[in-house]
Amino acid sequence: MANMGDKIIAPDPDMYEPTDSYAIDDWQSETTSIGSSLYRGLEENGRKYQVLKATDSFTPSDDKQFECYEAGHLTALVMDSHRANPLFRAPVENPKQILDVGTGRGSWAVDVADMFPEATVRGVDLYPPPVTWLPPNCILEVDDVLQDWTWHEPFDLVHLRILEGAFNDEERKKLYAQIYKNLRPGGWIEQLEVTPNFTTDDNSLPPGNILGTFGQTMIDASMKSGRGFDLFHKCEGLIKEAGFVDMKVHNSKWPVGPWPRDKQLKEAGIVNHQHWSMGVDGYGMYLLTKYGEPVPWSMEEVQVWSAKVRKEMLNSRFHIYHTAKRVWARKPFPEEEKAAAAAAAAAAAASVKEEPKSPEVKREVID
Ligand SMILES: C[S@@+](CC[C@H](N)C(=O)[O-])C[C@H]1O[C@@H](n2cnc3c(N)ncnc32)[C@H](O)[C@@H]1O
Repeated sequence: MANMGDKIIAPDPDMYEPTDSYAIDDWQSETTSIGSSLYRGLEENGRKYQVLKATDSFTPSDDKQFECYEAGHLTALVMDSHRANPLFRAPVENPKQILDVGTGRGSWAVDVADMFPEATVRGVDLYPPPVTWLPPNCILEVDDVLQDWTWHEPFDLVHLRILEGAFNDEERKKLYAQIYKNLRPGGWIEQLEVTPNFTTDDNSLPPGNILGTFGQTMIDASMKSGRGFDLFHKCEGLIKEAGFVDMKVHNSKWPVGPWPRDKQLKEAGIVNHQHWSMGVDGYGMYLLTKYGEPVPWSMEEVQVWSAKVRKEMLNSRFHIYHTAKRVWARKPFPEEEKAAAAAAAAAAAASVKEEPKSPEVKREVID
């Protein structure tokens, strides 16, 4: 498949010819509004934020942001549209209980509920999404996943996606420990994260272009905020530390714009362009007005910056992509847990001087 992590994506040479066969402007049009929010949140700098959690959440909870999440969801689906199940890769059979942590608009939870009508699929977030209809087996709940979980049934699958900037290191440890505790033995965790760093394989992005600095600008501000954009790099370690085994990792390049020659990647690039062009203002506004370098930016500065980013993103001669990583791993069965604990204890006893080694977690990188 063309979406392998290290494979170069070939640009479409026909993109730049005057032709009627491809409606060049179609991919640039904004999608129609998905729905209007009935809920009041905290308004700041023209965006609306959740008020459930005492600490700030950097992502807005408004229609524009929900549209961005929907486009992100569609990008993930198109990228895996060659698979029988484009929603997750964990080998879960006959699931009964599924949870989507930080569900956003709830699109993943809704689609999984449709795919597994026998399962109860819950999506949880700090803010109620503007959905008017849900499959009967899908429940979208408003809650803070950092609080102690009160769900009674153990989950077969817990899913997380694009949670960069949502948690600090301590909160992450608590979150992954709760996921572990609330999965049934043999149940699966699956996480999909993306970096905000745009890059190319063919140097088609000129040096100094704002798209080249976009990711680092966001990362720097997020690191200053204490809830860093480093989950992409840390999620494997966090999953392993929580005790999961049989970890699998799949990396892919998500193009931005219609530039790839491959049809599937072209479609993904078109939707991903919508994802980013609708999201850039929302992702940047809170972080840059609070933690922008060298000093916090004004709302107007963020708006000008995001307008420039959006404008440059329209140039399909820049063959930009960013990287996505999907990780899935299994909660061990009690006998495996006992064996791992015994092995760790034996290793600790055997080496008084040496650091005790945690048992090796099998990790497979999949292309
Ligand atoms: C970037 S969005 C991703 C949404 C969704 N997972 C998706 O892929 O479309 C991150 C989401 O995490 C939610 N979130 C952040 N902290 C949370 C918390 N403590 N409890 C529940 N949800 C949280 C935010 O409100 C936001 O909707």
